[in-house]
Amino acid sequence: MIVNTLAGKVAMISGTGGGMGRSAALEFAAQGARVVGCDVNEKAADETVEFVREAGGEMVSLAADLTTRRATPAGRTWCSGAPHNIRAVSVSPGLIVTPATEPVMEAIGPDGIAGLVARTPAGRLGQPEDVARVAAFLASDDASYINGADIVIDGGITAVG
Ligand SMILES: NC(=O)c1ccc[n+]([C@@H]2O[C@H](COP(=O)([O-])OP(=O)(O)OC[C@H]3O[C@@H](n4cnc5c(N)ncnc54)[C@H](O)[C@@H]3O)[C@@H](O)[C@H]2O)c1
Repeated sequence: MIVNTLAGKVAMISGTGGGMGRSAALEFAAQGARVVGCDVNEKAADETVEFVREAGGEMVSLAADLTTRRATPAGRTWCSGAPHNIRAVSVSPGLIVTPATEPVMEAIGPDGIAGLVARTPAGRLGQPEDVARVAAFLASDDASYINGADIVIDGGITAVG
């Protein structure tokens, strides 16, 4: 269902072929953003485009390898962008169940997963949607007073040590 919280916005999302990138593409499009995705895996990224369009959203995808030699520190982006209404906000996910973490899950096995869940105040593992929903909120005008912040999305496990 399109709820239009992000109507009129264009969202550039990387890694839309899998995991959190795919989930973010679906969430941002569901909230009315036009999504420009990219992934080094063109086939997987195109699948995401199909899912988004089937759900009634707008998305195009570029095949690109985003590897760069140098990244601009978020702090610098924040300082120079603030007068132009550009905000820089990061998210720090804990362990999220995605194709990338499948080997971790297999390595720790059911007992390891149960132990991890028991130590997590949220009482469950993180899903890509947990991150995508927060990212969509941070991109919305409802978050217009949040700038230069990092949001930890880990079910509370960092807070309890
Ligand atoms: N899953 C977690 O627990 C977790 C936690 C914290 C941070 N992260 C980080 O978040 C990001 C996404 O993680 P995920 O779990 O969704 O991974 P994922 O492997 O499920 O998806 C990543 C996507 O990015 C694409 N990709 C990889 N390298 C690329 C490149 N150079 N250019 C363009 N596309 C590229 C892949 O093809 C894939 O579709 C990663 O940077 C990961 O390190 C993941």
